[in-house]
Amino acid sequence: MGFYREQVVPRLIDVACGRFASPKLRARACAGLTGRVVEIGFGSGHNVGHYPAGVTRVDAIEPADLGWKMAAGRVAATAVPVHRSGLDGQSLPFDDDTFDSALSTWTFCTIPDAGAALLEVKRVLRPGGTLHFVEHGLAPDPGVQRWQHRFEPIQKRVAGGCHLTRPIADLLRAAGLKIVVLDEFYEKGAPKPLGALSLGHAVAP
Ligand SMILES: C[S@@+](CC[C@H](N)C(=O)[O-])C[C@H]1O[C@@H](n2cnc3c(N)ncnc32)[C@H](O)[C@@H]1O
Repeated sequence: MGFYREQVVPRLIDVACGRFASPKLRARACAGLTGRVVEIGFGSGHNVGHYPAGVTRVDAIEPADLGWKMAAGRVAATAVPVHRSGLDGQSLPFDDDTFDSALSTWTFCTIPDAGAALLEVKRVLRPGGTLHFVEHGLAPDPGVQRWQHRFEPIQKRVAGGCHLTRPIADLLRAAGLKIVVLDEFYEKGAPKPLGALSLGHAVAP
């Protein structure tokens, strides 16, 4: 990894995710998480304060050392044990059926092979375990989609591989997860190409 990706991108993500990714949306995504949780793309830990009382342990998956370092204060401030247990959502170091819940917020845009990561999430969730997500992706409107396709090459370069045009619900279904709650909307205050959100829950078979 180069200097930009290692030192600059995690700081950019920390600021952008702290500013645009609203705490209310994080709280909605985290509501109902229970038991042992795997959080894919932990970043600098902006979800930690939203873990509900039923969460007993979180296994954080995060490739950026700096992101994990920046999370230290949040991790220290919670009563929930949080461990950095892996570096890559595409290859999770856990047995099948290990987790009660999984959490991903604004991450499936960035993982190189999002489909592979979702298959891993399905594998490590116990049957009936639930993935909680809030993700940005392909907008419903063709006019916004055109801008997303135009901007995507630049976005990928400046924002650590972030894609704008991933069809989140389709990816979840293709991985064999059953979507049980889905709210699709534009995030208030965010530019539409970046703010086409999918928030919900999907269950492992
Ligand atoms: C836009 S940030 C979101 C961070 C955090 N989830 C949040 O909501 O603040 C995307 C995160 O995905 C992480 N990431 C990138 N590639 C990954 C991979 N292969 N597996 C897991 N996480 C990855 C990045 O390091 C970054 O922390």
